[in-house]
Amino acid sequence: MAFTKTSKLLATVAFTSAIGSAAMAQEVEVLHWWTAGGEAAALNVLKEDLASKNVGWQDMPVAGGGGEAASTTLKARVAAGNPPTAAQMLGMQLREWANEGALGDLSSVAEENNWAEVVPAAVQEFAVNDGKWVGAPVNIHRPNWLWINAEIFDAQGLTPPTTWEEFNAAADKLQEAGITPLAHGGQPWQDATVFDDVVLGIGGPDFYRKAIIEADMDALGSDTMVQVFDQMRKLSGYVDENFSGRDWNLATAMLLNGEAGMQLMGDWAKGEIIRADMVPGEDILCVAAPGTEGSYLFNTDFFGAFDVSEESKPAQMELAASIMSKEFQEAFNLVKGSIPARTDVAPDNFDACGQKAMEDIVEAADNNALLGSMAHGHGQTSSVQRAMFDVVTEHFNSDMSSQDAVEELQIAVESAML
Ligand code: BGC
Repeated sequence: MAFTKTSKLLATVAFTSAIGSAAMAQEVEVLHWWTAGGEAAALNVLKEDLASKNVGWQDMPVAGGGGEAASTTLKARVAAGNPPTAAQMLGMQLREWANEGALGDLSSVAEENNWAEVVPAAVQEFAVNDGKWVGAPVNIHRPNWLWINAEIFDAQGLTPPTTWEEFNAAADKLQEAGITPLAHGGQPWQDATVFDDVVLGIGGPDFYRKAIIEADMDALGSDTMVQVFDQMRKLSGYVDENFSGRDWNLATAMLLNGEAGMQLMGDWAKGEIIRADMVPGEDILCVAAPGTEGSYLFNTDFFGAFDVSEESKPAQMELAASIMSKEFQEAFNLVKGSIPARTDVAPDNFDACGQKAMEDIVEAADNNALLGSMAHGHGQTSSVQRAMFDVVTEHFNSDMSSQDAVEELQIAVESAML
């Protein structure tokens, strides 16, 4: 049965894209992991924009939040000498592919459209490699948000927590009332998203920079890091018993339908809130994860441009130019939940959470507290990131002590850096 359904679906997709390519002068093949409802809706904004410019779209979706599965597929495609026209990539991936010499050069489009003037410096650090623009940034996400079901908090007489102590007190109260305190999916990247928040919330921006971005052994082995794992242990007691392996959007659904009170997740969750016809900032509150107000973890989705044949280049350039247009950045990010990767888009049409993000990022950048997210490919190389994921997830799913976790973290990170 499942097989029949799938083949029908594949036949429909093939048919539709055949029509598409016959009518379109050129085509891009794009590998991405935007398969959840809100993500797919945002992607449609891009597909439609390109269609209006007569550029066809060949879809290469690889499901899996955070993009791990997509990254594996991408490696296989490149190894087989068959890269897509462009692929969704997080910052470190973009840098790593560029260092391998696999990417082309978007500098002519970038110069023509003045990207250097409008793209924030933190984003340019990844987009420009060796003086060349190798990817087009489509957004800026903030992973350090705490999303709160307002109705539940009202009914329980709770206010949004601003510290981890307050968070634990609120979570205890929800638990007593029979509500799952934390909507969570037990997948390594989701555990790591929460871990990033706790490191930043307990240690502050300078500690995050030392421990995560610089992988400083003293910081990784410090008492502060022991406290971080203590808090991770508390959090592992606030998830429901079916959390293991759950996709992030299903965890968000628990928050929206009132099964859970809170979720620590990036603002792609806002895409789901909007799709459920709920109002971000009213029905579902958005506050900085406990202890992280004033700091901003970020990750950007880039479309990395592979070094494709001359024939495919015009479509690739059109894709890049379209992605970076001011109008597109607004339309896309209103749906995706992120904010534009350009500084000149007005906040007026964004909801309260988007406007807060736009203000907070400026404040954080001024205070040296705008930091790349480790969980989302902007804080560490992929090998160190993997080592961190492993320890965080092992700790979350066992009764490992905080002290042991800290020691394992040091060993794992040290060997990943060799
Ligand atoms: C990406 C988002 C995506 C999320 C969940 C993040 O790494 O930057 O665009 O929505 O993963 O899949």
